[in-house]
Amino acid sequence: MIETIKKHIAEVEAFTASNKDEIETFRIKYLGKKGLLNDFFAEFKNVPNEQKKEFGKVVNTLKDTAQDKINTLKEVLESSEEIKGVYGDISRPGEPIELGARHPISIVKNKIIDIFSRIGFNISEGPEIEDDWHNFTALNLPEYHPARDMQDTFFIEKNPDVLLRTHTSTVQVRYMEENKPPIRTISPGRVYRNEAISARSHCFFHQVEGLYVDKGVSFADLKQTLQYFTTEMFGKSKIRLRPSYFPFTEPSAEVDVYWGLETETDYKMTKGTGWLEIMGCGMVDPNVLRNCNIDPEVYSGFAFGMGIDRIALLLHQIPDIRMFSENDLRFLEQFKSAY
Ligand code: DAH
Repeated sequence: MIETIKKHIAEVEAFTASNKDEIETFRIKYLGKKGLLNDFFAEFKNVPNEQKKEFGKVVNTLKDTAQDKINTLKEVLESSEEIKGVYGDISRPGEPIELGARHPISIVKNKIIDIFSRIGFNISEGPEIEDDWHNFTALNLPEYHPARDMQDTFFIEKNPDVLLRTHTSTVQVRYMEENKPPIRTISPGRVYRNEAISARSHCFFHQVEGLYVDKGVSFADLKQTLQYFTTEMFGKSKIRLRPSYFPFTEPSAEVDVYWGLETETDYKMTKGTGWLEIMGCGMVDPNVLRNCNIDPEVYSGFAFGMGIDRIALLLHQIPDIRMFSENDLRFLEQFKSAY
């Protein structure tokens, strides 16, 4: 009997298999319920006492050898399968790839850029750290001009000539200094104001500036351009221009778009008036043109400026401007389907 078992051990050691079925048949033969090992274990009681020790040992050896063999054969087979199939199991569900979302500010900014680039505006940018000339003086705000109070400025290192720009109108100046008319440019960017942070206002936000300078540009051109913009941006073509004041434009106006009063949201957005204020604009003041070496006797132009954050808040009914800079994924993920 012991000899038979030893033969089996040799057989097990020599065994090889080329597929799972062969391994399984082998397993059943030795380790299955009705397998040889159970037969040998059952035989134990019939073995004479003096042989019991050796018998037990060989049976256990057979059991361990068979189990080891099965494990190694399985491992070899599995790893060779992995190498063989470059794609592995193609019926397996794929690894999920997290889709990112654009930031709502970028979504609105891109939409504005897209609309103006269709009518020949290019994109220009300027630095966020500015000097007095580009942020104020060239824009017709001389040193003691009361309109400087309109903008709370962050000055850097107590030097009044190094500041964080308070508006993107700075890029108008930079662009006109470096380019000759005809000029058609829009300038998106971040601006800073020393204001208390609340749900409605922040110490930094975003604007888009627009500038059009050429021979014979009129207020009618401005109005037409704005109407094109509101139609494309909001699907609303009814606008009104209210007289206003900006030092860098003359005349100046505030632009309202008629939003309507059909839903409760319309009421909320427009405070019950149906009108929504969306930007400031005007004809570029001759002093500004002159400051940028453009002859106001030859050229005229219009400019406008709008807040991206404000438009994004309105369009998406976002209750708090601080959400734009908190990076809360639960908020940002909601813009996945927007472009
Ligand atoms: N710079 C103004 C602001 O920050 C916005 C503005 C108003 C820009 C009228 C313009 C303009 O170009 O013509 O409030």
